[in-house]
Order: sequence, then structure tokens, then C-alpha cells
Amino acid sequence: MTDAGYAEFGDLTLKLAQPYESDTQWIGQQEVLMQLLACWITVDDADLPLTPRLVGSPGVGKTQLAIAAARAQNRPLYIYQCTADTRPEDLLVTPVLSQGGEISYHASPLVSAMIMGGVCLLDEGNRMNEKSWASLAPLFDGRRLVESIVAGVTIPADHNFRAAVTMNQDESTFEIPDYILSRLQPTLKIGFPNKQDEMAILQYHLPFAESEMLAMTVEFLQHSHELKLDFSLRDGLNLMRFAMKRMIQDPDHPISRDVAWQEALEKCLGEDAVDLEDLAQRRKRTLGGDSVPLGLADLFFDTDDPLHPDRDDDEDEEPF
Ligand SMILES: Nc1ncnc2c1ncn2[C@@H]1O[C@H](COP(=O)(O)OP(=O)(O)OP(=O)(O)O)[C@@H](O)[C@H]1O
Ligand SMILES: [Mg+2]
Repeated sequence: MTDAGYAEFGDLTLKLAQPYESDTQWIGQQEVLMQLLACWITVDDADLPLTPRLVGSPGVGKTQLAIAAARAQNRPLYIYQCTADTRPEDLLVTPVLSQGGEISYHASPLVSAMIMGGVCLLDEGNRMNEKSWASLAPLFDGRRLVESIVAGVTIPADHNFRAAVTMNQDESTFEIPDYILSRLQPTLKIGFPNKQDEMAILQYHLPFAESEMLAMTVEFLQHSHELKLDFSLRDGLNLMRFAMKRMIQDPDHPISRDVAWQEALEKCLGEDAVDLEDLAQRRKRTLGGDSVPLGLADLFFDTDDPLHPDRDDDEDEEPF
């Protein structure tokens, strides 16, 4: 059915997406890798694999975990980057006008994974709206199929097809409806790595970095994890890359390691990152630690509105 990047469905030819090739490894936190791999096992012919949600702070390694899991199972990996304007058909099949004026049909990375028996990672899934998720409901239950209206075909998933969804916890995301969430189980949380693992990961990605700079960065990241701030491995990697580039830039007037590192900290992570304790305090306050609780009336009236039922008018009243 599939031939050099194409698949046939009756008289319809679908052009398939290319799998994502990466040989990067997953370092540390073996438990969560094993949990993800377990989701994809079938214990009997009648059993179905699970499609887990991978959650955790930005840059903590959610995408990397899925890449490593697909690699561990020798399955081709297809990544679909979900966005707020992803339409249902973008997830399935897109018609493309070719040079000869003919329409060719392109399978999305998701449909390509279904056909090729690969893994599809729906990356940052909660950026996508409900309508797009609805088109995937039959894929993530016992039916294991999708229906493309544009191409007029029903596409069944190969029995080797597996999937996972990463979710980000920030304001620019949609609330996914319960009937979809119930199909995306279990939830696997990826936490920040411990000191040794964090060092090993930075070293793995930047084997040419000096050990002092690695140590400074790990120290910074561990401190920020302790304070429950969101600086991540990705931040650490970017910061070190920039610092090293600055250090070798001008061999005649080399910038010292400390100066380059501090500058990179500020430029990559923002001025707030310079004083972590202070940032943590301010975060705590804005998250409601010290704020005065609101009454029901505060939802309808400004505090100084004369109609506010709890307004203290004593000062404005004329003395007798
Ligand atoms: N355990 C790990 N082993 C190896 N590399 C890791 C590990 N965790 C994170 N990384 C590296 O850290 C960087 C950030 O990871 P990744 O992109 O997977 O994060 P993410 O959680 O998907 O972020 P986002 O929420 O922004 O999508 C990548 O360069 C990745 O290779
Ligand atoms: Mg990611």
C-alpha cells in the first residue's frame, strides 16, 4: 500500500510526511521513560495502546522524552506541532495545488504515522482548539481511525501506530474538553532533573563547555528549581551557548567567564533572573500569597464605587 513516500487508498494517492530523525538520548529520570514505553505495550491482540499526556514546565524535556521513547522502540517518529489555528484538516489531509494544476493530497505527520505504523507526537496539544481535537476522537478510542472530509476517505491506523501528546501549562492554551482528556491517559509528569542528571544533560549537549561554566549553570538551575521558578534546561543550554560565543569572540580582549556568564544570564533569561530570591518572593506575592481576599461585591463594583455595598463611607460623611 505504501511506496516511496506515497500511500494508496482506492484511487486516492496520499503523499506522506517524512519521519523526524534524531539520535539524541534521554538522560536520567528512567521511571518516566519506562512509564511512557509501558503505555505503548499491548498485552494481548485485543488490547489497545494508551496515548499519554506528557506534562511539565516549558523546556523540561517533554519533547525529548517522546523522541527518546520512539527511538527506544525503533519506530519512526512524526511530530505535529499544534497551534491555536490548527484546523481539523491540517491534522489529517491537506489538498495542495501542484504545478500542473492538479490537486495532490498530503498526509499530515499524524496520518503518516498512522499509515506507517510509527509514533506521532502531538506537540503542545493544548494550543489546539476543541474542533480540531474532535476530529481525533475516533482515533484515540477503540476505532483507531480518522475521517478526512477533504479527501473523502476513512483512514485506519496501522496496528503499530502509537501516540503521545505534550501539554504546556501557560495562559495561551485552550481547555481541552473532558471527552478528549479521557482518551489521553495516563498523565505523565516530567519534573526537573536532579543535580547529577542536570549536569550530565548539559554536558551531553555541550561537550565542549568548560567544567566551571557547567558547574555555575547547574548551580543556578538547581537553585531556581528549589525556589519553584520555571528556568529550565533549555534556558541553561541557551545561556551557556551565548556565554561561550561571547568568550571566544574577541581573542585580543577576551571577556572573562564570569562576566560572559552574567551577561548571558541577563540577556537570555531576563533581568529578573539575576536575583532569584527576589524573583521567587515577587512570584509568591502575585500568586496570591499576600493579597486581600475579594468579596462577592468586588466582582461587580470597583472598591471606590459609591454603590459598593461594603464601601466605607465614614470619611465622606458630614459630621453632625
Ligand atoms: N533528560 C534529558 N536528556 C537529554 N536532553 C534533555 C533532557 N531533558 C531535556 N533535554 C534537552 O533540553 C532541551 C529542552 O527539552 P524539550 O525541548 O524536550 O523541552 P519541552 O518540555 O518539550 O519544552 P516546551 O514545553 O517548550 O516544548 C532540549 O535541547 C533537550 O534535548
Ligand atoms: Mg516541546
